[in-house]
Amino acid sequence: MIAGEWRPLVAASILTADFGHLDRVVHKLERAGIDRIHLDVMDGHFVPNLTFGPDLVAAFRRLTSLPLDVHLMISEPSRYVARFLEAKPATVTFHVEVSEPDELKAWTLEAIRRGGAGAGLAVSPATPVTAVVPFLPSLDVVMVMTVEPGFGGQHFMVEAAPKMAVAGEWIHRADPPGQIHVDGGVNRDSARAAGRWGADVLVVGSALFQRGQDAADEVRLVRERAMAGRLLAETPFEPDPVGSGRAAPAH
Ligand code: DX5
Ligand code: ZN
Repeated sequence: MIAGEWRPLVAASILTADFGHLDRVVHKLERAGIDRIHLDVMDGHFVPNLTFGPDLVAAFRRLTSLPLDVHLMISEPSRYVARFLEAKPATVTFHVEVSEPDELKAWTLEAIRRGGAGAGLAVSPATPVTAVVPFLPSLDVVMVMTVEPGFGGQHFMVEAAPKMAVAGEWIHRADPPGQIHVDGGVNRDSARAAGRWGADVLVVGSALFQRGQDAADEVRLVRERAMAGRLLAETPFEPDPVGSGRAAPAH
């Protein structure tokens, strides 16, 4: 159920930004009204792409006071998590698919919490969301991937979206409630579906860096359409008893 003050949050993924002018990128995103910055760490092993490490996360910490969400697409999160926590991110999320033992995954989640950040698991499109169930007591974030991890600019995979509603049933009941993050192909056209299926944080990347498109417009439209989708999902409709075929809003 939407609490009174709930609103969808927009996290900017800087994967496709101009790394030559990060200070300019951050200030542009702040002016565009984003809520968080999403940092995609890739090791070229868990995903076929390489990006950056903890030093760049620390650089972003110096550039902005916005919450930082670190998304680890690396094969050994347990080995490197402490380095990323030094940059004081708001959350650190790694992939449930990594081939580390479940006990080590649970240890890493607790280490993230001990390090003062929210602990998250990301679920790639082909992975059932039930894969996170054994870890629920240690989870503050479930990140539902709506693209194959590794690259920005891909198309939103709407078939993965219902996983958000399933995971939301679990994580929104936690105390304090956790967050559903949706990541990949989110923009003004897919935001309604993302909101409808229960996203709390919408990660938007390449849509914010389109030449000739205003980032502030994109943020506003993503937020508005996600809210519209969420309200629609929360509005119970009953079939019209008269049989006109028009559904009538429940009283
Ligand atoms: C993909 C990353 C996403 C991606 C989002 O592996 O995890 O965060 O950068 O960028 P867009 O919005 O372009 O899909
Ligand atoms: Zn990401």
